[in-house]
Amino acid sequence: MKDLENLYKSEAYRGEVPNDYQGKVGWQSPSNIALVKYWGKKGKQIPQNPSISFTLSKCRSETFIGFEKADSFGFRFFFEGKENPAFGAKIEKFLLDYQAFFPFINQLSLNVESRNTFPHSSGIASSASSMSAFVMCLLDIENQIVIKQFDFQKASYFSRLASGSASRSVYPKMALWGATEAYEGSSDEYAVPLENDIHPIFKTYRDSILIVSGEKKTVSSRAGHGLMEGNPYAPARYAQANQNINKLLAALKSGDLDTFINITESEALQLHALMLCSNPSFILMKPNTLRIIEEVRNFRNETKIPLCFTLDAGPNVHLLYPEKEAEKVDDFIKNTLATYCNEGRWIADHVGDGPKPLL
Ligand code: PMV
Repeated sequence: MKDLENLYKSEAYRGEVPNDYQGKVGWQSPSNIALVKYWGKKGKQIPQNPSISFTLSKCRSETFIGFEKADSFGFRFFFEGKENPAFGAKIEKFLLDYQAFFPFINQLSLNVESRNTFPHSSGIASSASSMSAFVMCLLDIENQIVIKQFDFQKASYFSRLASGSASRSVYPKMALWGATEAYEGSSDEYAVPLENDIHPIFKTYRDSILIVSGEKKTVSSRAGHGLMEGNPYAPARYAQANQNINKLLAALKSGDLDTFINITESEALQLHALMLCSNPSFILMKPNTLRIIEEVRNFRNETKIPLCFTLDAGPNVHLLYPEKEAEKVDDFIKNTLATYCNEGRWIADHVGDGPKPLL
């Protein structure tokens, strides 16, 4: 494997910013939903097990960075038009921690503006989309100064350092992050694209996100990953995640929906089971989360439509299904599931493209 840490720090990347240099870059980047979950990490954002995700289409962050040559590093962060010092401080810390990789940064003053395309208080984690959009902008600036080609692997590497799941957001359709013998070229340090190794049915898969609660998460993912350290089931979980990766990769290739459903639902419930037995423990599902899960399983048994669910670290339910079932599932959501949603809200999303430049 390439020695990325040294490559990205090498002299070749040590750019001098020309005097009077200024400009603006902009990128939008998608959120993603994990099928095999990343829950537990070690060292510098190294996952305890590999994970696989769908890249989403509608849930995106759009980030612009205005930059100009300055005597020292300057940084301001605006979220949806308003200065947000708390989030800004988090991103600034990331930049300062990894300054060795971005030596040009202390010669620039940066003005960052970011917004999400998904609604406020939808309970959707935005760190994957926002951090990957930010990193895309940063690499764009670097490319303008010193390098003339875009390296998505590098974008994934730095997105991972900012937020683990963000490493998977830089590729279209599906991504795998974490070293596994089941996939050549996979790595703990960056995600790899899976688009060429999946059955066509998954390339247009739907994800209808049922908003059970729009409240802020009660446990941050940083705290959640931390709790895995004392969790007595952690070793069994990591072993099982690896087995699930092997089985899911085969099912994704062949289009085996039964295995896909089995693993996806089991992974979602395991993530929540791990939180239930952490110390302190967290119950992140709401009564309506369970009602929806029951309804989905009944619907699948009765109709044989291959609809399944997954969950993130919160109460909202992602409904996953092939595009050709969209009409029937839409009716099911409207007629049966919407009543369990907060103000009847859901987001009709689907598997989508990777990041795109906005300027
Ligand atoms: O990237 P983080 O540190 O926010 O962790 C994400 C964890 C989950 O969303 C629960 C699972 C995953 O693999 O995305």
